[in-house]
This record gives sequence, structure tokens and C-alpha cells, in this order.
Amino acid sequence: MVVKSRLSASMKEGLQDALQVELYQSNLWKHIANNLQRLGFFNSQKYFLAESAEELTHYQMHVNFINDMGDVADMPKIDAIRDEVESIGDALEIGYRTEIDVLKQYKNFYKEAFEEDVEVAQYLEQFIHIQSKAVGQYGDLLSKYKVAEETKEILEFDQHILDIN
Ligand SMILES: [Fe+2]
Repeated sequence: MVVKSRLSASMKEGLQDALQVELYQSNLWKHIANNLQRLGFFNSQKYFLAESAEELTHYQMHVNFINDMGDVADMPKIDAIRDEVESIGDALEIGYRTEIDVLKQYKNFYKEAFEEDVEVAQYLEQFIHIQSKAVGQYGDLLSKYKVAEETKEILEFDQHILDIN
């Protein structure tokens, strides 16, 4: 007997959107890492590669939850990434902006799920927490970077970026 899905169409759609944004972010961090490598900021490159890998763990959590709900995740098409990255500052600003957008997406989905399916809402709570931490982390990195920019210590910033968080 095939297990019957416990997800409504709108809950499935929200989870698919969440899964897609995690894959998109994973690719975005890879794109940023590639550009930082070209610029010679090798620790910042490593930082973004680690971020990229972490998004794939979030993606997998959604796949597993969809499976637990008796459904199956569909693999979405991921848009090409064209953001220009000419400095660590560009990279961190893209990071900060994106994490805020994704936090908003999870908050809206959470509100919808809270009305419709508390099981999904409860699952989503951890992602609000993860996103809120990510926004804080990029905020801290950006503040530190602004100081490094003023004191012309960009190379030192790159040297220590892996110890900051
Ligand atoms: Fe994520």
C-alpha cells in the first residue's frame, strides 16, 4: 500500500518553496566563494563554501520532513546566479540581504501553516531560529568588515573570518 500524503496542496507548495530557496542559497554561496577565490580571499572563500554545505543540510531536512508526511520532494529548477562580487563587503551584503529575505519567507509560511497545519508550523519553528541566527551572524560580520575597511585591514579580516562566529 502506498502511503497517503498528509500534506495539503498549499503546505506542499510552501515546503517546495523552502526546499528551493535552500538549494538556491547553496548555489549563491558557491558563486560568492568562486569570486572570492579569484580575488585572493581564501579564508572568506572557505567561509562561504561551509555556508553552502550547511544549506544542503537544510534542504535535506525538508526532503526528510516531506517524506515523513507521506509525500515526496520534487527537484526544482534553480535560477542562474549573476550577482557581482568585487569585494568581501559585496559578499557579506549579499549574504545579509538574502538571509533577511529567507527569514521573511519562513515567517510568512509559518503564519500560514499555523492556521492550516500545526504539524508543519511546529516543524518550521527551527527554521525561523536558524534564519534569525544567520541574519545576526551576517550583521556582525558586516560591522566588523566596516571597521576593517576603515583601518585598511581587509587582509587581516580575511585571515580571521573563520574565527569570528
Ligand atoms: Fe538555510
